[in-house]
Amino acid sequence: MDIEILPIEKENMKSKDILKDPDSLGFGNYFTDRMFVVKWTEDKGWHDAKIKKYEDFVFDPATLVLHYGQEIFEGLKAFRSKNGDILLFRPWENVKRMNRSAERMSMPTMKEEDMLEAIVELVKLEKDWVPDKRGASLYIRPTMIATEKGLGVRPSKEYIFFVILSPSGPYFKEGFKPITLLATDKYVRAVPGGVGEAKTGGNYAASLKAKKLAKNYGCAEVLWLDAYNKKFIEEVGAMNIAFVINDVITTPRLDGSILHGITRKSVLEMGKKLGFKVSEREISIHEIMEGAQNGSVTECFGLGTAASIAPVGEIKYLHYEETGENITSVKFGDKPGKIAERLYKELQDIQYGEKEPPFEGWILKIE
Ligand code: PLP
Ligand code: COI
Repeated sequence: MDIEILPIEKENMKSKDILKDPDSLGFGNYFTDRMFVVKWTEDKGWHDAKIKKYEDFVFDPATLVLHYGQEIFEGLKAFRSKNGDILLFRPWENVKRMNRSAERMSMPTMKEEDMLEAIVELVKLEKDWVPDKRGASLYIRPTMIATEKGLGVRPSKEYIFFVILSPSGPYFKEGFKPITLLATDKYVRAVPGGVGEAKTGGNYAASLKAKKLAKNYGCAEVLWLDAYNKKFIEEVGAMNIAFVINDVITTPRLDGSILHGITRKSVLEMGKKLGFKVSEREISIHEIMEGAQNGSVTECFGLGTAASIAPVGEIKYLHYEETGENITSVKFGDKPGKIAERLYKELQDIQYGEKEPPFEGWILKIE
């Protein structure tokens, strides 16, 4: 792809003082100096690719994305190794998933090599923004939006794809400490045939009401159940979920409404290589509630790019019966489980370049 790199004046560059204390970055609060932007139109395809100053977009109030939410995004990270190398973790997977989301949302796809080139070139220019601390990284957010004007419900004939970068710490303020989840039959996230497998903004907007309910019950996130039976565990607000059941790392199988998480896939592949038994299957909330009490379910953890591996210490289950609201709870402990800890360390060792990746293509060094 032909990328024009526009200069930015020194006086417009932001202070990097925030990087001095990576522990206080939080997630997605700061953005670097530059962004990548490319346009798409029906007649020209992708064109006018630029890396330029991070700045506002100006949109007509009738721009389609503002009305009907034709939007998709990705999330991946650049890590700084001890010797200063900048490493991307499985970026090809993100690029492929972005195109799958684009197809589902009737948006244009982009050549995988071009999308990766855009990400790599931007990160290369912004490499000084990659935090130098284990646990912190440069979060990369490729995004595509519908930019044609109009109020008819139809696929836009114009789009912008852009990439922004955010030096970030852990997604949960708890860091690698157990969080509490709320499983409930009150709301659902996605249905088979719907858009749950796509990384599209509306999925997250639709989850906010349930997240508020979770907060009211002292929980960090919702543990979503399937929409038909309100029984089978699907995933969490911003991550997939896994349990250790009878010593097997067990995660819900991809049923058409769960996001195909790259961390989930990596943990299954890496776990097998480390000698763990792994399984993808239906898991009912009842199996977990009972299993945590009788000792067959010993651990629970979330899996995601932003969240990494996030231990879960407690699940509350809020369900509605004829007699009214009922809440039960099970605990896994106030310390991360042993297997979660092992996987977390292994994954971070690979991501921060301390260990050879177990498979080809897992790490892309930015040269
Ligand atoms: N599920 C949802 C709803 C997510 O937003 C994410 C985050 O990307 C994940 C799962 C985990 O996917 P990944 O590991 O590819 O980041
Ligand atoms: C990610 O983990 O990259 C995500 O996209 C989660 C995000 C919604 C915070």
